[in-house]
Amino acid sequence: MTPTRNTCLILFHLLLISLLPLKITSSPRTQAEALIRWKNSFTSSSPTSLASWSLTNLSNLCNWTSIVCDSSTTVSQINLSNANISGSLTDFNFTGFSTLTRFDLSSNNLEGPIPSSIGGLSKLTFLDLSTNLFDENIPPEVTELTELQYLNLNNNNLNGTIPYQLSNLQKIRYLDLGSNYLETPDWSKFSGMPLLTHLNLYYNSLTFEFPSFILNCQNLTFLDLSLNQLSGQIPELVFTDLGKLEYLNLTDNLFQGVFPSNVSKLSNLIEIRVASNNFSGSIPEDIGILSNLQIVELFNNSFVGHIPSSLGQLKKLQSLDLRMNAVKFHSTS
Ligand SMILES: *[C@@H]1O[C@H](CO)[C@@H](O)[C@H](O)[C@H]1NC(C)=O
Ligand SMILES: *[C@@H]1O[C@H](CO)[C@@H](O)[C@H](O)[C@H]1NC(C)=O
Ligand SMILES: *[C@@H]1O[C@H](CO)[C@@H](O)[C@H](O)[C@H]1NC(C)=O
Ligand SMILES: *[C@@H]1O[C@H](CO)[C@@H](O)[C@H](O)[C@H]1NC(C)=O
Ligand SMILES: *[C@@H]1O[C@H](CO)[C@@H](O)[C@H](O)[C@H]1NC(C)=O
Ligand SMILES: *[C@@H]1O[C@H](CO)[C@@H](O)[C@H](O)[C@H]1NC(C)=O
Ligand SMILES: *[C@@H]1O[C@H](CO)[C@@H](O)[C@H](O)[C@H]1NC(C)=O
Ligand SMILES: *[C@@H]1O[C@H](CO)[C@@H](O)[C@H](O)[C@H]1NC(C)=O
Ligand SMILES: *[C@@H]1O[C@H](CO)[C@@H](O)[C@H](O)[C@H]1NC(C)=O
Ligand SMILES: *[C@@H]1O[C@H](CO)[C@@H](O)[C@H](O)[C@H]1NC(C)=O
Ligand SMILES: *[C@@H]1O[C@H](CO)[C@@H](O)[C@H](O)[C@H]1NC(C)=O
Repeated sequence: MTPTRNTCLILFHLLLISLLPLKITSSPRTQAEALIRWKNSFTSSSPTSLASWSLTNLSNLCNWTSIVCDSSTTVSQINLSNANISGSLTDFNFTGFSTLTRFDLSSNNLEGPIPSSIGGLSKLTFLDLSTNLFDENIPPEVTELTELQYLNLNNNNLNGTIPYQLSNLQKIRYLDLGSNYLETPDWSKFSGMPLLTHLNLYYNSLTFEFPSFILNCQNLTFLDLSLNQLSGQIPELVFTDLGKLEYLNLTDNLFQGVFPSNVSKLSNLIEIRVASNNFSGSIPEDIGILSNLQIVELFNNSFVGHIPSSLGQLKKLQSLDLRMNAVKFHSTS
């Protein structure tokens, strides 16, 4: 190889390298400007709390109120929980915050839709939008938040069906969609979420049967489906496969059928609330095996027969409510 040829090759390589697209990273300055643009879209916020978010303070981003940076001085956390903000996410520049790991906007007056561009927050592990006025659908793009472990959308005005793409979030441990207007999706499209321990779907507009994907969430310790219009029988697999359950709430639905004796397999159960359904048959005799039980609410169903004497073995029991059933004590005569 001649020296000239060599030089040519080196130059050619340099040319190639210079043509490579620049890795898109947002500088602290563009992130600061984006936050100020978002702040300027608020119709109100606590006047003093965001004073540091200012154009005269651009160089100081990592010391701004509610902002946490990582070592490379890009924003990693935004926590505006309970900051009295009225506004929306429409002017939040999601593409500029792909470095975000925690985003907490809970307890404000934020309204409008959750933008589909939220999928750009690809490093997010924690997202709390609870207790706001967000409306319309949960965007299917949440499926892009593959690192998410905690998602709380409780107490908003979200409607439409729950997108099955949510169940692609296989790292999720805590999922709360309670107190919205969400409707029943095709549950058969949902995958199990193996790490999920806390699932709250209470107070929505869910109808039809017990959501089948829950049977494949076998690390669940907390399940609240109360205040929906779910019907049919409880699959026996709930009792045999969800053995880690500690809190089970099915109150105020249209569930019916006999309560399976397999309930005694839920050996970790602490609270069971199934009031105001149409459960029938007798209360399972071996309920007394569930030695951790503290609260048992079975009122307003169609239970019949004798009250199991094994209930007397429940040393931790604090509250037992069997009213409005056709059950009776064993006669002693
Ligand atoms: C919250 O904002 C409203 C204006 O939207 C204001 O009247 C109220 O004083 C604020 N509350 C607090 C605690 O800052
Ligand atoms: C944050 O403030 C401290 C002093 O309170 C200062 O030492 C530090 O340099 C500031 N950091 C940034 C990134 O502005
Ligand atoms: C800039 O931000 C820092 C840290 O929050 C704050 O102490 C300071 O008062 C701000 N300066 C201006 C000019 O707003
Ligand atoms: C945000 O701040 C609130 C109150 O200071 C705190 O309770 C909450 O845990 C914080 N959220 C995150 C994600 O750190
Ligand atoms: C959002 O931020 C990105 C990256 O920082 C930037 O390229 C883009 O122009 C911004 N978009 C708007 C609408 O400001
Ligand atoms: C959801 O709510 C929005 C307004 O908040 C409404 O326009 C839309 O029709 C609702 N969609 C469904 C499916 O109820
Ligand atoms: C339960 O979670 C652990 C991690 O905490 C995981 O290793 C295990 O596979 C999960 N179990 C099931 C049945 O999904
Ligand atoms: C349902 O029951 C659970 C566990 O007992 C409880 O923590 C939760 O607050 C109840 N849900 C409602 C909507 O009351
Ligand atoms: C539930 O218990 C009954 C006996 O009461 C038994 O026949 C049945 O096989 C059990 N179901 C499962 C899924 O283990
Ligand atoms: C009993 O349950 C029915 C529905 O099954 C409900 O309409 C009614 O309000 C409940 N009553 C009480 C006192 O909870
Ligand atoms: C409750 O279930 C019984 C059968 O077990 C049925 O006869 C009755 O109509 C049901 N009641 C309601 C309100 O659905």
